Amino acid sequence: MFLEKMLQSQGFGSRKHCQQLIKNGAIAIQGEVLTNAKHKLDLNHLTFSVYGERFDYRENVYIALNKPQDYECSHQATHHFSVFDLFDDVLMNRGLQCVGRLDQDTSGLLLLTDDGQFLQALTHPKKHVAKVYRMQTADPVTEQQMQQLRQGVELRNESGSFAATDVMKIAEHELQMTIHQGVYHQVKRMLAAVGNKVEQLHRQQIGALELPDLDQGKWIYLRSEQVELAKTRMSI
Ligand code: URA
Repeated sequence: MFLEKMLQSQGFGSRKHCQQLIKNGAIAIQGEVLTNAKHKLDLNHLTFSVYGERFDYRENVYIALNKPQDYECSHQATHHFSVFDLFDDVLMNRGLQCVGRLDQDTSGLLLLTDDGQFLQALTHPKKHVAKVYRMQTADPVTEQQMQQLRQGVELRNESGSFAATDVMKIAEHELQMTIHQGVYHQVKRMLAAVGNKVEQLHRQQIGALELPDLDQGKWIYLRSEQVELAKTRMSI
Protein backbone atom coordinates (compact mmCIF):
# COMPACT_ATOMS: atom_id res chain seq x y z
CA MET A 1 0.00 0.00 0.00
CA PHE A 2 1.25 3.51 -0.76
CA LEU A 3 2.35 5.60 2.21
CA GLU A 4 -0.30 8.30 1.62
CA LYS A 5 -3.06 5.66 1.38
CA MET A 6 -1.87 3.95 4.55
CA LEU A 7 -1.94 7.21 6.49
CA GLN A 8 -5.41 7.99 5.20
CA SER A 9 -6.65 4.54 6.23
CA GLN A 10 -5.34 5.10 9.75
CA GLY A 11 -7.33 8.31 10.27
CA PHE A 12 -4.76 11.01 9.49
CA GLY A 13 -7.14 13.00 7.32
CA SER A 14 -7.76 13.50 3.64
CA ARG A 15 -5.33 12.30 1.00
CA LYS A 16 -4.21 15.91 0.53
CA HIS A 17 -3.59 16.34 4.22
CA CYS A 18 -1.60 13.08 4.33
CA GLN A 19 0.47 14.23 1.35
CA GLN A 20 1.20 17.45 3.21
CA LEU A 21 2.31 15.53 6.32
CA ILE A 22 4.70 13.53 4.16
CA LYS A 23 6.02 16.68 2.47
CA ASN A 24 6.58 18.25 5.88
CA GLY A 25 8.84 15.35 6.87
CA ALA A 26 6.46 14.32 9.66
CA ILE A 27 6.39 10.62 8.82
CA ALA A 28 9.12 8.18 9.73
CA ILE A 29 9.42 4.41 9.68
CA GLN A 30 12.19 2.77 11.69
CA GLY A 31 13.85 6.14 12.14
CA GLU A 32 13.87 6.98 8.44
CA VAL A 33 11.88 10.02 7.34
CA LEU A 34 9.83 9.19 4.24
CA THR A 35 9.12 12.00 1.79
CA ASN A 36 7.67 10.04 -1.13
CA ALA A 37 3.87 9.74 -0.88
CA LYS A 38 3.98 6.77 -3.23
CA HIS A 39 6.49 4.84 -1.14
CA LYS A 40 5.25 1.23 -1.11
CA LEU A 41 4.79 -0.36 2.29
CA ASP A 42 4.56 -3.85 3.65
CA LEU A 43 1.72 -3.57 6.19
CA ASN A 44 2.75 -6.62 8.18
CA HIS A 45 3.69 -5.50 11.72
CA LEU A 46 4.14 -1.98 10.41
CA THR A 47 4.83 0.78 12.92
CA PHE A 48 5.34 4.39 11.95
CA SER A 49 5.61 7.77 13.59
CA VAL A 50 3.86 11.05 12.94
CA TYR A 51 5.76 14.03 14.32
CA GLY A 52 7.57 11.60 16.61
CA GLU A 53 4.44 9.90 17.96
CA ARG A 54 4.46 6.16 17.36
CA PHE A 55 1.54 4.25 15.84
CA ASP A 56 0.94 0.61 14.92
CA TYR A 57 -0.78 0.00 11.60
CA ARG A 58 -4.22 -1.56 12.26
CA GLU A 59 -6.48 -2.75 9.49
CA ASN A 60 -9.41 -2.28 11.86
CA VAL A 61 -9.69 -1.14 15.44
CA TYR A 62 -11.47 -3.02 18.22
CA ILE A 63 -11.71 -1.15 21.49
CA ALA A 64 -12.97 -2.05 24.98
CA LEU A 65 -14.01 0.94 27.07
CA ASN A 66 -15.02 0.93 30.70
CA LYS A 67 -17.88 3.35 30.18
CA PRO A 68 -18.55 5.71 33.04
CA GLN A 69 -22.04 6.83 34.00
CA ASP A 70 -23.19 10.17 32.54
CA TYR A 71 -21.85 9.38 29.09
CA GLU A 72 -24.18 8.81 26.12
CA CYS A 73 -23.45 6.45 23.25
CA SER A 74 -24.61 8.98 20.65
CA HIS A 75 -22.35 11.30 18.68
CA GLN A 76 -24.45 14.34 19.50
CA ALA A 77 -25.01 13.93 23.21
CA THR A 78 -27.74 16.22 24.40
CA HIS A 79 -27.60 16.31 28.20
CA HIS A 80 -24.37 14.49 29.02
CA PHE A 81 -20.93 13.80 27.62
CA SER A 82 -20.56 11.56 24.60
CA VAL A 83 -18.41 8.42 24.84
CA PHE A 84 -16.79 9.66 21.63
CA ASP A 85 -15.30 12.57 23.63
CA LEU A 86 -12.96 9.94 25.07
CA PHE A 87 -11.25 9.33 21.69
CA ASP A 88 -8.96 11.51 19.59
CA ASP A 89 -9.58 12.76 16.05
CA VAL A 90 -7.35 10.12 14.48
CA LEU A 91 -9.62 7.39 15.84
CA MET A 92 -12.79 9.32 15.10
CA ASN A 93 -11.69 9.85 11.47
CA ARG A 94 -11.74 6.07 11.09
CA GLY A 95 -15.50 6.07 11.70
CA LEU A 96 -15.52 4.60 15.18
CA GLN A 97 -18.95 3.28 16.24
CA CYS A 98 -20.40 1.77 19.41
CA VAL A 99 -21.19 -1.93 19.24
CA GLY A 100 -24.70 -1.72 20.67
CA ARG A 101 -25.54 0.85 23.30
CA LEU A 102 -25.48 1.33 27.01
CA ASP A 103 -27.81 3.78 28.68
CA GLN A 104 -26.37 7.06 29.86
CA ASP A 105 -26.54 5.86 33.49
CA THR A 106 -25.10 2.37 32.81
CA SER A 107 -21.39 1.73 33.33
CA GLY A 108 -19.08 -1.05 32.20
CA LEU A 109 -17.95 -2.86 29.09
CA LEU A 110 -18.65 -1.04 25.83
CA LEU A 111 -17.02 -2.15 22.58
CA LEU A 112 -16.25 0.27 19.77
CA THR A 113 -15.01 -0.52 16.28
CA ASP A 114 -14.67 0.66 12.69
CA ASP A 115 -15.34 -2.88 11.42
CA GLY A 116 -18.91 -3.02 10.13
CA GLN A 117 -18.94 -6.82 9.94
CA PHE A 118 -17.89 -7.18 13.56
CA LEU A 119 -20.52 -4.67 14.61
CA GLN A 120 -23.19 -6.57 12.68
CA ALA A 121 -22.04 -9.94 14.09
CA LEU A 122 -22.39 -8.73 17.66
CA THR A 123 -25.58 -6.74 17.38
CA HIS A 124 -27.72 -8.78 15.00
CA PRO A 125 -30.79 -9.90 16.97
CA LYS A 126 -30.49 -13.45 15.63
CA LYS A 127 -26.94 -13.91 16.96
CA HIS A 128 -27.97 -13.92 20.63
CA VAL A 129 -24.64 -12.76 21.97
CA ALA A 130 -24.63 -13.11 25.75
CA LYS A 131 -24.28 -10.00 27.88
CA VAL A 132 -23.66 -10.20 31.61
CA TYR A 133 -25.00 -7.41 33.81
CA ARG A 134 -24.66 -6.64 37.50
CA MET A 135 -27.15 -4.39 39.17
CA GLN A 136 -28.11 -2.76 42.43
CA THR A 137 -31.83 -3.01 43.06
CA ALA A 138 -34.21 -0.77 44.96
CA ASP A 139 -35.87 -3.70 46.76
CA PRO A 140 -34.39 -6.93 48.06
CA VAL A 141 -34.00 -9.59 45.39
CA THR A 142 -36.41 -12.47 46.03
CA GLU A 143 -36.30 -16.10 44.95
CA GLN A 144 -39.61 -15.56 43.15
CA GLN A 145 -38.23 -12.66 41.11
CA MET A 146 -35.21 -14.73 40.12
CA GLN A 147 -37.46 -17.58 39.08
CA GLN A 148 -39.61 -15.26 36.95
CA LEU A 149 -36.51 -13.82 35.27
CA ARG A 150 -35.31 -17.32 34.42
CA GLN A 151 -38.71 -18.32 33.06
CA GLY A 152 -39.09 -15.16 30.99
CA VAL A 153 -41.16 -12.01 31.21
CA GLU A 154 -43.16 -10.04 28.68
CA LEU A 155 -42.17 -6.49 27.86
CA ARG A 156 -44.60 -3.90 26.56
CA ASN A 157 -44.35 -3.29 22.78
CA GLU A 158 -41.98 -6.25 22.32
CA SER A 159 -43.04 -9.61 20.99
CA GLY A 160 -42.08 -12.84 22.72
CA SER A 161 -40.76 -13.51 26.14
CA PHE A 162 -37.46 -12.29 27.61
CA ALA A 163 -35.56 -14.67 29.84
CA ALA A 164 -32.25 -14.38 31.67
CA THR A 165 -29.74 -17.12 32.38
CA ASP A 166 -27.18 -17.48 35.17
CA VAL A 167 -29.36 -15.39 37.45
CA MET A 168 -27.37 -14.99 40.68
CA LYS A 169 -28.10 -13.08 43.84
CA ILE A 170 -24.86 -11.41 44.94
CA ALA A 171 -26.24 -9.54 47.96
CA GLU A 172 -29.63 -8.52 49.34
CA HIS A 173 -29.89 -5.70 46.78
CA GLU A 174 -27.49 -6.97 44.14
CA LEU A 175 -28.15 -9.28 41.23
CA GLN A 176 -26.17 -10.61 38.28
CA MET A 177 -27.75 -12.09 35.17
CA THR A 178 -27.08 -12.82 31.52
CA ILE A 179 -29.34 -11.75 28.68
CA HIS A 180 -29.19 -12.86 25.08
CA GLN A 181 -31.11 -10.14 23.28
CA GLY A 182 -30.67 -6.40 23.42
CA VAL A 183 -33.93 -4.49 23.25
CA TYR A 184 -34.26 -0.95 24.56
CA HIS A 185 -33.70 -0.72 28.35
CA GLN A 186 -34.04 -4.48 28.49
CA VAL A 187 -32.56 -5.17 31.92
CA LYS A 188 -34.36 -2.29 33.60
CA ARG A 189 -37.66 -3.32 32.02
CA MET A 190 -37.17 -6.98 32.99
CA LEU A 191 -36.58 -6.01 36.60
CA ALA A 192 -39.61 -3.73 36.54
CA ALA A 193 -41.66 -6.61 35.10
CA VAL A 194 -40.91 -8.73 38.17
CA GLY A 195 -41.72 -5.90 40.56
CA ASN A 196 -38.26 -4.60 41.41
CA LYS A 197 -36.25 -1.61 40.13
CA VAL A 198 -32.69 -1.21 38.87
CA GLU A 199 -30.86 1.54 40.75
CA GLN A 200 -27.45 1.03 39.15
CA LEU A 201 -26.45 -1.06 36.17
CA HIS A 202 -23.04 -2.30 35.06
CA ARG A 203 -22.10 -4.53 32.12
CA GLN A 204 -19.43 -7.05 33.05
CA GLN A 205 -19.13 -9.24 29.96
CA ILE A 206 -19.97 -9.58 26.25
CA GLY A 207 -19.84 -13.08 24.76
CA ALA A 208 -16.93 -14.64 26.61
CA LEU A 209 -15.03 -11.35 26.92
CA GLU A 210 -14.93 -9.94 30.44
CA LEU A 211 -14.41 -6.25 31.13
CA PRO A 212 -10.62 -5.84 31.25
CA ASP A 213 -9.07 -4.29 34.33
CA LEU A 214 -9.64 -0.64 33.41
CA ASP A 215 -10.50 2.48 35.38
CA GLN A 216 -13.75 4.09 34.32
CA GLY A 217 -13.30 6.19 31.18
CA LYS A 218 -10.20 4.22 30.14
CA TRP A 219 -9.95 1.98 27.10
CA ILE A 220 -7.63 -0.49 25.37
CA TYR A 221 -7.23 -1.97 21.91
CA LEU A 222 -8.39 -5.58 21.93
CA ARG A 223 -6.03 -8.26 20.72
CA SER A 224 -7.38 -10.63 18.07
CA GLU A 225 -8.04 -13.41 20.58
CA GLN A 226 -10.09 -10.97 22.71
CA VAL A 227 -12.09 -9.97 19.61
CA GLU A 228 -12.86 -13.68 19.09
CA LEU A 229 -13.94 -14.02 22.74
CA ALA A 230 -16.47 -11.22 22.29
CA LYS A 231 -17.95 -13.09 19.33
CA THR A 232 -18.26 -16.30 21.30
CA ARG A 233 -21.91 -16.94 21.94
CA MET A 234 -23.32 -18.73 24.90
CA SER A 235 -26.44 -20.60 24.00
CA ILE A 236 -29.53 -20.33 26.17
N1 URA B 1 -30.36 -2.89 29.73
C1 URA B 1 -30.71 -1.69 30.21
O1 URA B 1 -31.78 -1.52 30.74
N2 URA B 1 -29.82 -0.67 30.04
C2 URA B 1 -28.61 -0.81 29.48
O2 URA B 1 -27.83 0.14 29.41
C3 URA B 1 -28.26 -2.08 29.01
C4 URA B 1 -29.16 -3.11 29.14
